[in-house]
Amino acid sequence: MSVTSTFASQIKKDRIPEHVAIIMDGNGRWAKKKGHLRIFGHKHGVGAVRNALEAAVELGVRYLTVYAFSTENWSRPRIEVNALMELLVDTVEKEIPTFMENGIQLQVIGNVDQLPGSCQAQLERAMKITENNDKLTLILALSYSGRWDIIEAVKKISESVKAGVLQPEDINEAVLNTALNTAKFPDPDLLIRTSGEQRISNFLLWEIAYSEIYFTPVLWPDFTKDDFYKAIIDFQGRERRFGKTSEQIA
Ligand code: IPE
Ligand code: IPE
Ligand code: MG
Repeated sequence: MSVTSTFASQIKKDRIPEHVAIIMDGNGRWAKKKGHLRIFGHKHGVGAVRNALEAAVELGVRYLTVYAFSTENWSRPRIEVNALMELLVDTVEKEIPTFMENGIQLQVIGNVDQLPGSCQAQLERAMKITENNDKLTLILALSYSGRWDIIEAVKKISESVKAGVLQPEDINEAVLNTALNTAKFPDPDLLIRTSGEQRISNFLLWEIAYSEIYFTPVLWPDFTKDDFYKAIIDFQGRERRFGKTSEQIA
């Protein structure tokens, strides 16, 4: 942990969130403010992912999910979509040594089949190389949306019912959990959204039922390790009641 950060020193080591999810927003506005094209902001956003990842590894966060491309983002201008895909392949390729040095395992959630073949191949390769790393799991949400995942899960469950291996009355939260892309991961404890927007934009709809939500006006390319620490400090000051009374959880 950086000894120079006054924020890092305020973090209680015994209450680190197990899973942090981030809606990385504001790349386009950041670039526009500087008189550049939107893709310039996306390129600088990569550095911010590195900052968040480094801080998460240092603190002992076990899962970090980042919303990199939503189902709805396919409707953006083709030139921006193509540039984002290219950036993705380049970044995953370049970061493999860092993943290996830091025990980071790469996982993907989303409709990966929709991605260009080169992206799919690169992701497969990176996931294979990092599969035995167990310090932190970095989950990339790509061509992902919460509603898409729920619909896919409902289709899978319906098939099981149709095949007679599952009775409708046996459908419960655990069954749905298992059918989701996020089945292998715990629900996020903390959800961060940058850029000042206060919405979920079809991110982990089912999984954030009891996540603490932290909004910051910082535009994603400006997001530093201190910004990550600040979110953790805020999280640690909250009381998670899960429907109970304050007295019950004390
Ligand atoms: C987030 O930044 C990155 C992606 C959605 C891919 P934006 O590109 O949404 O930037 P703004 O919100 O337009 O500033
Ligand atoms: C959410 O950001 C998606 C990602 C960060 C990948 P958007 O910029 O697409 O969300 P809206 O359109 O402002 O809700
Ligand atoms: Mg945006």
